[in-house]
Amino acid sequence: MKRDPETVATEDLTRAEAKAELARLAREIAAHDRLYYQEDAPRISDAEYDALRRRNSAIEQQFGDLVRADSPSRRVGAAPSQGFAKITHSRPMLSLDNAFDDADVTAFVQRIRRFLGLADDEPVAMVAEPKIDGLSIALRYEDGRFVRGATRGDGTTGEDVTANLRTIRDLPATIKGCGVPQVLEVRGEVYMPREAFAALNEARAAEGETLFANPRNAAAGSLRQLDPKITATRPLHVFAYAWGELSAPIADTHWAFLERLAAWGFPVNPRALLCPDIEDLRGFYEAIGRERQALPYEIDGVVYKVNRLDWQERLGMVSRAPRWAIAHKFPAEQVETKLLDIIIQVGRTGALTPVAVLEPVTVAGVVVQRATLHNEDEIQRKDVRIGDTVVIQRAGDVIPQVVGVVAGKRPRGAEPFVFPDHCPECDSLAIRKEGEVARRCTGGLICPAQAVERLRHFVSRDAFDIEGLGEKHIEAFWRDGIVREPADLFRMAGRERDGALDIRGREGWGDKSTDNLFHAIEARRRIAFERFIFALGIRQVGQATAKLLARHYRTLANWREAMATATAEDRSGEAYDELTGIEGIGPSVAGDILDFFAEPHNRAVIEALAREVEVEAPPLPAAGSALAGKTIVFTGTLTTMTRAEAKARAEALGAKVAGSVSKKTDYVVVGADAGSKAAKAQELGVTVLGEDAWQKLAAG
Ligand code: IVH
Repeated sequence: MKRDPETVATEDLTRAEAKAELARLAREIAAHDRLYYQEDAPRISDAEYDALRRRNSAIEQQFGDLVRADSPSRRVGAAPSQGFAKITHSRPMLSLDNAFDDADVTAFVQRIRRFLGLADDEPVAMVAEPKIDGLSIALRYEDGRFVRGATRGDGTTGEDVTANLRTIRDLPATIKGCGVPQVLEVRGEVYMPREAFAALNEARAAEGETLFANPRNAAAGSLRQLDPKITATRPLHVFAYAWGELSAPIADTHWAFLERLAAWGFPVNPRALLCPDIEDLRGFYEAIGRERQALPYEIDGVVYKVNRLDWQERLGMVSRAPRWAIAHKFPAEQVETKLLDIIIQVGRTGALTPVAVLEPVTVAGVVVQRATLHNEDEIQRKDVRIGDTVVIQRAGDVIPQVVGVVAGKRPRGAEPFVFPDHCPECDSLAIRKEGEVARRCTGGLICPAQAVERLRHFVSRDAFDIEGLGEKHIEAFWRDGIVREPADLFRMAGRERDGALDIRGREGWGDKSTDNLFHAIEARRRIAFERFIFALGIRQVGQATAKLLARHYRTLANWREAMATATAEDRSGEAYDELTGIEGIGPSVAGDILDFFAEPHNRAVIEALAREVEVEAPPLPAAGSALAGKTIVFTGTLTTMTRAEAKARAEALGAKVAGSVSKKTDYVVVGADAGSKAAKAQELGVTVLGEDAWQKLAAG
């Protein structure tokens, strides 16, 4: 039977299959690029998209002569690949600094005064304008005729969207009036009015198309259409507010400039206001803030611009923003809605996060149905109850938050929220440690929310070190129920032989890669005890602690028994004292280890794993070794072995390897180019060994 090349691991592809795959990938990636860049409506996640590109590159590396002319790897960067020509702006398109409160605005004006050396009583007139939430564009007119239009892009280079801009009726195709310079570049903002946005989304929903997240995205998606006919159907509008290249000056002040633009037929925001002094800015900001909801378009603040253009010229810019202008942002928009439910999400680290389920409401242009409640204490502090009317806010792109409760609107009988003490995903105990805000699920290895992360850790290099098993594979195996816990890894090959599994037939796997994986797993059936412990992913048990535990308890059976006893004795008996008596293990780490063992799921995981693998006890320190029990520090470069090897050797001989020299250090082994540690050893009178002497010791 012919196999589907899409499902074959890259290294297993035949030449013919590789060719077909490259063609498919070029097609698919181009389609996703179109959805993402031109339609602002991606259908796959970034991770899935990256996987497609990675697969394309991997195949191209193997079959260099099959690289296609239209290969995605030949298109540079993320910007739209085809369709739009690039335009380099004759003057860079700048962005604006932000002010968030009155103090920021005052500082902005003071900077200007200082920079220009103005007297304290010299008024600084400003023009205040609403800050439109759209996308900026540059419109070039030559001899009064519109010739070219571009998006901002990265500020230096944008995309040529001339044909699309011609479809916007707000913009004059030819300028009528006097005094128009030969070259006139007008800049402004393209936006979509709120109502038009809602209607567009409604129509898209009826057609089963994806929805735009907000008017800004809708405007961007509409302007950046490859087919201007589509742009023409979209209700786009423009406000002009700045200029780029000019062949002759057209005004002395920003205000006069706006007046001329209006006279020439450009749409200028009617709410722009000339403020003779900075005291007037505050009034403008507050008035626009009050009107904000009623405005037909979305704004996210107001912009103040120095009115005198000679001053603007002198002020210039700092790092891509003019010194003569600032955006005074509005605080995050807040709205009220009803709290329908509180659900608990479990993160990859096991932290339980409460999430508010809301009656859908539009905040800052986006429909919000979920908001974070942060943690248990926050719910209590704000006394948030299901059924409450809550205030939520969203600032920029951040996750919406519940700010508080509207006290007067609480329904009768609303009960305080009781935070669960069991994980909603796996029903394991969820524990909150003193001093921590998060309650965490203790079901680590069996909790679906954490399992993939835990399995990834389990196979990682310092743990079981199973090669060829990436996160994507683990995720897929988990999802399909093939690997639900570590022991399942060791059962895979057997199940494949019995016909219960068909890894070879899965997407991304072929004969060779499957065999390689099974070999890699098989090679780890014997595993050092410390790796076994580390692989379990117990909180606070890193490699060093795993090593301490392995050395102390020596066998898995010993350790399990001791942990069971310590748990049963409620952490107060001998077994507990023994655990905390190990140098380097304090009560906090011990607590995490015992929490892990207290959870029956975790004990079952260890038991299943112990049936599959053979755990090797750490080597006993050589009796009578001169290094047994000594603390040793390595410094400088050794010529006969690597630092890692020297460390392993010293530890095998019963020494403890430390990173810094102290009075407790017994030996400092000095290699080439040793630095301050050698000097410190001398100072403290610690025995210093050269590489030869170290080798003699290491030879036992
Ligand atoms: S003036 C050199 N005026 O805000 C000054 N920008 O955050 C150029 N914006 O990139 C910008 N309304 O896209 C200016 N009335 C307004 C604006 C405005 C919206 C946008 C513009 C700019 C961004 C900076």
